[in-house]
Amino acid sequence: MNPSDQCQSVILQSVSKAYREDGGTVHALDNASAEFRRGRLALMLGPSGSGKTTLLSLIAGFTEPTSGEVKVFDTELARLRPSQLQLFRAMRIGFVFQNFLLLDWLTVRDNVAIVAEFARRDGARTLAKDSLERVGILHLADRFPSNLSQGEKQRVAIARACVNNPQLLLADEPTASLDSKQGFEIIKILRSIAKEENRCVIAASHDLRLIEYADDIFRIEDGELKRETRPPTADHSSTKCLQVVDKKSSAAGQVVTRT
Ligand SMILES: Nc1ncnc2c1ncn2[C@@H]1O[C@H](COP(=O)(O)OP(=O)(O)OP(=O)(O)O)[C@@H](O)[C@H]1O
Ligand SMILES: [Mg+2]
Repeated sequence: MNPSDQCQSVILQSVSKAYREDGGTVHALDNASAEFRRGRLALMLGPSGSGKTTLLSLIAGFTEPTSGEVKVFDTELARLRPSQLQLFRAMRIGFVFQNFLLLDWLTVRDNVAIVAEFARRDGARTLAKDSLERVGILHLADRFPSNLSQGEKQRVAIARACVNNPQLLLADEPTASLDSKQGFEIIKILRSIAKEENRCVIAASHDLRLIEYADDIFRIEDGELKRETRPPTADHSSTKCLQVVDKKSSAAGQVVTRT
């Protein structure tokens, strides 16, 4: 891989994470290496407690690895001072949290705008409007989170994560607690962010419905990360994903047949 390719990727190199508890040590991630590229939707599958949130948190720099290296495009996170890391994250990484983490006392628009303000962007409210429009919920801008459905909250969380046009979008269980229709809409949004905006999108989930829409599949079990190879061809004629799978990637055999 040449250096310019590396700048387009998120790279984990032998990353381990151990949490020290009173009762002992939890090895949440064990010697994980992986590459995630721009323009692709990567899916991290694994059962509860397998280490998915830990992995996303390491990539976002919310937590530090016990050993190994996390490189986000051209930047090794460990080299940044805390204030630099905060700004780097604000400008270049969007995070959709497992439980949304919306602020109940702010309107939908302000929940999104506050993140643009934090990144010192001009016109935060306009950026928030654009981001809400992007995920189809501008009409909800003046509502408060407690008056929204789960699917609507998930869209606000995505709009907030995307308001600064981050190159990297991390989504933790983006379809959890959504029905099939709502889940499908969210997947479509994540996929189009990767494809149309050339972002690197990494979604962690135990929702097997997402497999059809992802470009790259990783499995994580008991902290062990493995990349799955895909079959060279795929018949996705019976799936509902045809409208979101662009012709280029399906021609390249990037739709999986397994259900
Ligand atoms: N702050 C922490 N302190 C101690 N142990 C932790 C901490 N965070 C996570 N763990 C442990 O690390 C392991 C992986 O947790 P993690 O939250 O990454 O799993 P997950 O795959 O996201 O699970 P879920 O699907 O339930 O969200 C679990 O055994 C968990 O108990
Ligand atoms: Mg989790």
